[in-house]
Amino acid sequence: MHAILITEPGPADVLAWTEVPDPVPGEGEVLVDVAATAANRADVNQRQGNYPPPPGASEYPGLECSGHVAALGPGTGDSGWSVGDPVCALLSGGGYAERVAVPAGQLLPVPRGVDLVTAAALPEAACTVWSNVFMTAGLRSGETLLVHGGGSGIGTFAIQLAHARGARVVATAGSAEKLDRCRELGADAGIDYHRERFPDRVKEETGGAGADVVLDIMGGSYLADNVRSLNVGGRLVIIGLMGGRSGELDLGRLLVKRLSVHATTLRSRPLEEKAAIVAGVAEHVWPLVADGSVRPIVDRTLPLARAAEAHSIMESSAHVGKIVLTR
Ligand SMILES: NC(=O)c1ccc[n+]([C@@H]2O[C@H](COP(=O)([O-])OP(=O)(O)OC[C@H]3O[C@@H](n4cnc5c(N)ncnc54)[C@H](OP(=O)(O)O)[C@@H]3O)[C@@H](O)[C@H]2O)c1
Repeated sequence: MHAILITEPGPADVLAWTEVPDPVPGEGEVLVDVAATAANRADVNQRQGNYPPPPGASEYPGLECSGHVAALGPGTGDSGWSVGDPVCALLSGGGYAERVAVPAGQLLPVPRGVDLVTAAALPEAACTVWSNVFMTAGLRSGETLLVHGGGSGIGTFAIQLAHARGARVVATAGSAEKLDRCRELGADAGIDYHRERFPDRVKEETGGAGADVVLDIMGGSYLADNVRSLNVGGRLVIIGLMGGRSGELDLGRLLVKRLSVHATTLRSRPLEEKAAIVAGVAEHVWPLVADGSVRPIVDRTLPLARAAEAHSIMESSAHVGKIVLTR
């Protein structure tokens, strides 16, 4: 088969469409014939040499895919999947390839009303948002969610899912155009982080109370302001470190406001945890995709062999939503 190889750590042009050995599904794994995958910021970090695959994961990038089941590996006879089934999947790597071996618990059906190629844009965002905003932070209907990077793959999904489940949503982004898109997706308010201080605006938008949950991709540089933006009993969930890995944490505010701070990565979680997240997505999120309340937001679709172009676009942050890569 062919796959995108990271020939050495570096800029986008180190990605090369290369002939490689076919993956062999191990115990509990299913082989998927890939129709499409999607670019994630983590793939850019991996390409730059800053985010190595966890032990046992494929060396090729790609955290999600869609396609058809090509073969059932050992121990998956009673998994409920059959050869030929259309699927999409959460991966710990290997999606930028013609075939990938996937733990059976990380397969999802293609949601009703979504075509096979577009379905590749869903698993990573759906699992990240479901696990962090709902399973970990427990966002409830009527609460306020602050989403940083509202125009990102993760942000566009988080806005829609929180809105569909009855939360109020405030989103940050770097341009008026992106904020317009955030409002179209269900954000109640948008903050241009180049022009305004977000803690002040969040307070204004919540009658002085603050956000109940913050979904953060910046990390260190936003830590103090995120804590400042939280309501009493608020929960901060950090999923990205685009602003560095350390910052100042005012424990006094945590005590007084009874706040909690969480940080997670999906990729390195144990198989059972990933399977539980995927099952939660199938039960609670897929019906909202099927009825159109939550839509995959695809900025553009490119051939997988042009993955380098997708990475350059992602690094310029010119996109809104996901960049899909097809075979
Ligand atoms: N922990 C996990 O399990 C997990 C899983 C998936 C993703 N992630 C993380 O989630 C983040 C988003 O991933 P993605 O694949 O969706 O990336 P993406 O589509 O490339 O989005 C990144 C976004 O960050 C925005 N941004 C940059 N600086 C910002 C700032 N100061 N304030 C607000 N927004 C800012 C960019 O747009 P503008 O600056 O133009 O607004 C861009 O939309 C990444 O950090 C990724 O590593 C974590």
